[in-house]
Amino acid sequence: MSGPSTYQPQHKVLQWIEQRLPVMNFVNSSFVAWPTPRNLNYWWTFGAILSMMLVVQIITGVVLAMHYTPHADMAFDSIEAIVRDVNYGWMMRNIHAAGASMFFIAVYVHMFRGLYYGSYKEPRELLWILGVIIYLLMMATGFMGYVLPWGQMSFWGATVITNLFSAIPLVGDSIVTLLWGGYSVGNPTLNRFFSLHYLLPFVIVGVVVLHVWAVHVTGQNNPTGVEAKTEKDTVPFTPYATLKDLVGMSAFLMFFSWFIFYMPNYLGEADNYIPANPGVTPPHIVPEWYYLPFYAILRAIPNKLLGVVAMFGAILVLLFLPWLDSCKVRSSRYRPLAKRFFWAFVAVCLLLGWLGAKPAEGVYTVMSQVLTACYFAYFLVVLPVLSRKEKTLPLPNSIADDVLASSASKGKSLASVAVIAALAGTLVVGASQDAKASAGGNVPPSLEWSFAGPFGTFDRAQLQRGYKVYKEVCSACHSMKYVHYRNLTEPGGPGFTVEQAKAFAAEAAPIKDGPNDSGEMFDRPRRLADPFPSPYPNEAAARFSNGGAAPPDLSVITKARSYERGFPQFLIDLVTQFQEQGPNYVAGLLRGYEDTPPEGFVLPDGAYYNKYYPGHAIKMPQMLMDGVVTYEDDTPNTADQYAKDVTAFLMWAAEPHMEARKRLGLQVMIFLALLTGLLYFTKRRVWANAH
Ligand code: HEC
Repeated sequence: MSGPSTYQPQHKVLQWIEQRLPVMNFVNSSFVAWPTPRNLNYWWTFGAILSMMLVVQIITGVVLAMHYTPHADMAFDSIEAIVRDVNYGWMMRNIHAAGASMFFIAVYVHMFRGLYYGSYKEPRELLWILGVIIYLLMMATGFMGYVLPWGQMSFWGATVITNLFSAIPLVGDSIVTLLWGGYSVGNPTLNRFFSLHYLLPFVIVGVVVLHVWAVHVTGQNNPTGVEAKTEKDTVPFTPYATLKDLVGMSAFLMFFSWFIFYMPNYLGEADNYIPANPGVTPPHIVPEWYYLPFYAILRAIPNKLLGVVAMFGAILVLLFLPWLDSCKVRSSRYRPLAKRFFWAFVAVCLLLGWLGAKPAEGVYTVMSQVLTACYFAYFLVVLPVLSRKEKTLPLPNSIADDVLASSASKGKSLASVAVIAALAGTLVVGASQDAKASAGGNVPPSLEWSFAGPFGTFDRAQLQRGYKVYKEVCSACHSMKYVHYRNLTEPGGPGFTVEQAKAFAAEAAPIKDGPNDSGEMFDRPRRLADPFPSPYPNEAAARFSNGGAAPPDLSVITKARSYERGFPQFLIDLVTQFQEQGPNYVAGLLRGYEDTPPEGFVLPDGAYYNKYYPGHAIKMPQMLMDGVVTYEDDTPNTADQYAKDVTAFLMWAAEPHMEARKRLGLQVMIFLALLTGLLYFTKRRVWANAH
């Protein structure tokens, strides 16, 4: 084993520092000379990947916080301002939002790795417990972060989860009031969640330091579970482990970039693009995918208090794992039965995740109950019994022996790591998509969109036509408050000239400005910097004029609507980058009217039958008929064409930087592919001397 470092800097100044504070010695002994088992596979790179994710989340989070406004009336708007008007704000937001999911994918891989190879066993119990604490802190941080955009899911997720604490006898209600800072989820709740969401990551950093410290005391476990004994068993951390970690990190960044640049909304809920509304409960309240297994456990149990206890118990049981599994052999490699049960347990967790996204009724509840029993049985029955009864296979004498013996089958390929990580993550992620069913709606037809796919771009002429349809038809009832006239001239948009956009602004309804020098408010014509006008002075007026239903703002509507794609389609979508549910729905809705509702359907007064609208009774009349808009070019003046054009325009309005996003994505992907390849071959060269 490479001994403790005796690092002595060459330079006088460095020596001066080193004598007073031996940082370089510390870094050298911990991250350079530190002996690492030579047989670590790529699953061991997830520790480094997690450290990277923590840094990524903190940096993007700090930048986002510079522009975010933690106020119930402004949070949603401030995030739209970030993604529209802050330089690379869309990227920061996508990194941070997708980053949360990536962080959890990585932590789950890391935890299952620990479980499989028995990394929690003596003498690493405390290391494991610190890990569980980090995981708990991550859950709390992720949950509070999800509340900050103050969309429908934020609000209702917060309501459901905080309400759980009311199940605690005696003090439950007081705790909930304390969490809320009032008598319901509201502005004080948002404020304290923001404050804690900013604080907890630094607490995580603190516990991570302890976690890493602990691993430096015990040394790393390894796939054999046999402790390193001689120098032959180990390699110095740098360059061997560092390079391997870099390969893993770079490959993981590619996977991450897929979401940042190509599928930023795949991991989220469409409902969260609807501003929070305490008066309207969404049809399905689903937590983020990484909580789904625990959500399933919670709902499996009919009694609220017991459900909450089971949910927390499911996490807390991990703290006792080192004592529940007392088998002397660490690695499941040499435990044929434990290995099988391990994979069964993985399947149980994935299925629970899937059930967490299903409605809690009928067969789903029964399945959740059975699987919850399996979950606990694994820890409380299977592992304790196996520790005593299982006949384990002979262990190799040393790590070096094992490396020699298995050099033929050595090295799980990077591809398999990526594939398994991707699959495990997306299975659960996808399950949450199942929950986004449009209640009772038919699935609208999939249309061809010029902006679909990794190379998709907007069709400028189509956006210009779409603007005409919006202006002449939709703007009579719908606002688009996040879109400004200047946007019409910006790259990646409809490509109107500045003169054209100025003219559009001047023609629009005047805007209230002031006060002027004499203290009076006045109306003035709109300018490029002004937003599109709203047809109604307030929501009540909008409601009053439309038979009781306020026409929603259309700025982000194509991202705020979705429909179920089901299993296994969502997995295929991940590869094909299909994400046009929103546009398909809007275009379908505009064409989905039927004069006579089906037999037996009772249409309420003032409503119209629409086959794609959830519940089918919509207060918006059919607006698009052939010939209502006259195009200046020779595009056919048909309702179908209008529907497509206005939807494309709405898609651009919701995602004005889409073209820049995909363009940068391609560059990043090419860069990362080259980097990963180079790192991989460098790593091979370096490791070639290690044997
Ligand atoms: C006469 C007023 C009016 C006009 C014009 C109008 N809408 Fe609407 N729209 C409404 C109302 C009212 C609702 C709310 C319906 C409800 O909640 O039942 C609505 C809802 C919608 C929705 C949301 C449906 C959902 O899933 O909740 C979309 C999308 C939409 N309109 C698009 C458009 C587009 C695009 C145009 C222009 C082609 C347009 N509307 C023109 C009144 C109008």
